[in-house]
Amino acid sequence: METKQEIEKQKQYIEKVKQINKGSNLKYYILTMGCQLNENDSEKLCGIVEQMGYEQIDNYQEADLVLFNTCCVRENAEDKLFGKLGELKRIKEKRGTIIAIGGCMMQEQHITDKIHESYPYTDIIFGTHTLHKFPEDLYKTLESKKKMQDVIDIEGEVYEGLPIKRMSNIKASVTIMYGCNNFCTYCIVPYVRGRERSRHPKDILEEVEQLAKEGYKEITLLGQNVNSYLRSEQWKENGTEYKGINSFATLLRAINEIEGIERIRFISPHPKDFTDDVIEAIAESEKVCKLIHLPLQSGSTNVLKTMNRKYTKEQYLELVEKMKKRIPNLTLSTDIIVGFAGETEEDFEDTLEVVKQVCFEQVYMFIYSRRVGTPGDKMTNQIPEDIKHKRFDRLKELVESQIADNNQKYVKTIQKVLVEGPSKNNSELLTGRTESNKVVIFEGEPQLKDKIIDIEIVSEHMWYLKGKHIN
Ligand code: 5AD
Ligand code: SF4
Repeated sequence: METKQEIEKQKQYIEKVKQINKGSNLKYYILTMGCQLNENDSEKLCGIVEQMGYEQIDNYQEADLVLFNTCCVRENAEDKLFGKLGELKRIKEKRGTIIAIGGCMMQEQHITDKIHESYPYTDIIFGTHTLHKFPEDLYKTLESKKKMQDVIDIEGEVYEGLPIKRMSNIKASVTIMYGCNNFCTYCIVPYVRGRERSRHPKDILEEVEQLAKEGYKEITLLGQNVNSYLRSEQWKENGTEYKGINSFATLLRAINEIEGIERIRFISPHPKDFTDDVIEAIAESEKVCKLIHLPLQSGSTNVLKTMNRKYTKEQYLELVEKMKKRIPNLTLSTDIIVGFAGETEEDFEDTLEVVKQVCFEQVYMFIYSRRVGTPGDKMTNQIPEDIKHKRFDRLKELVESQIADNNQKYVKTIQKVLVEGPSKNNSELLTGRTESNKVVIFEGEPQLKDKIIDIEIVSEHMWYLKGKHIN
C-alpha cells in the first residue's frame, strides 16, 4: 500500500502549506487545456490548492499562484502556453506570483528545455505521473524559493484519495483508467501518459456511490481507451475481482445499478475493442446514454493502416451497423483527423463517404498536427497546410449540413432534458441537455435546475434547440 502512504504524506504537505498561508487571503488562477481527462486532473489540483487556503479567481493578474494544466495533442496549445508565460513575466516581477506548469506537455523534454531557456522564472514544472506530489513541490518552493522540476518518465501508479473540487454539482467525470497502449502513429498520448493502468473497481464504485449521495445525476467515465478497462491489470489474475467486475462491460452494468445516478456516458472507446459484451451492456443498461462516441479518425483503410488504428473502413461500418441493430435510438459522435501524412484525395473522399453514411450526431474535426517523437512526424509524405485546410473546410461544410438536417428531426419530439441552470446568453431562460447531448434552451422556473424533465422541441438552430417544458 505504498500509494496510500504517499497520499498520506502529501496530505501532511497540504497542512504545512496551509499553515504557511494562514491569514494571507491568497488567490489562485488555473488554466486547463485539452481533454476531459485534463479537466478531471484540474479538479484534483483545485481540490488540493483550495485545501491549502487558496481561493480561485479568473484573472491571473491578481493571482498569487498561477497553474497551467497543459495538453500536447495538437500544436496550438503550445503557442497559447508560451504566450501566457510571456505575459506573466512582468506580473511575477511585481507580485512574486508562483508559476506552476503541469500536464502532458511537461512530459516532453523539448518543451521543458524551452521553458528553462526562455521562461526561467517558472517555479514548478510537474508531469502527468507526479500530479499527486504537487503539495510537496509547492511546499518546497515556498520554503526554499528554489525552482523545481518534478517529472518522471516511468509509469505512474494509480493514486486514490486526493481532494477534488468538482466543476458542476450535477455532472461529474470519473477517470477509470490512465494511459494508452495503442500507439496510433499521429498521437503523443502514449508517450506522455504512459501505459494503461486501470483503477480498482472498488474505488470507482465508491466514488460514483458518493457522487450519487451528493446529488450528482450524470457520470462520464473517462479514459484514453475505456473499453480496454482492466485488460492489462495483473491484480485481476490474482482473484481480486470485485462484485463481478472484470471488464468495461461489467463495470457499466455495475454503475447502472447505482441508485440516484440517471445518466452514464463514457469517452473514449476504441472501435477495435468494441466487443459484443460492451454492446450488450449498453443496450441493457437503461442509464447508459445512447449517444456513443466512436472515434473514426479516417474513413480510408489505407490511412487507417498508416495510423495504426487496426480496423478498416468496412469493419468500422460493420460495427456501426451491428450497434444500430442492437441499440434502439442509437446516435453516434466521432473524431476525425484531416490531412494525415500520405492522405490522398481519394482517401479523403472515403472519409466524406463514411461521414455521409453514418450521419453522426456530432463530429469533432482536427487538422493533423505533427507531434515530435511520433512515427507520423517522421513520415516523409506530409500534406501541405493549404490542402489540409481546404479538406478541413469541405468536411466542415458536410458536417454542418448534416447537423442542420439532423436537427430538423428533433422538432416536435419530446426529449428528456437534464436541466443545468440559467442559459449563459440569456439568464431569463434555462438550459439543459438531451440524452444525445444536444443543448436545449427553454422557459422555466429556476427550481427545475438539476432535474430531468420532458421538453417538447419547438424549433432548431445550428448549435441548440428551443423547447417548451411540458408538465
Ligand atoms: N493531430 C490532430 N489531431 C489529433 N488527435 C490526436 N492526435 C492528433 C494530432 N497529432 C485527435 C484525435 C483524437 C482526439 C482527442 O484528438 O482525433 O481522437
Ligand atoms: Fe492516442 Fe490512439 Fe491512444 Fe487515443 S487510442 S490516446 S488516439 S494512441
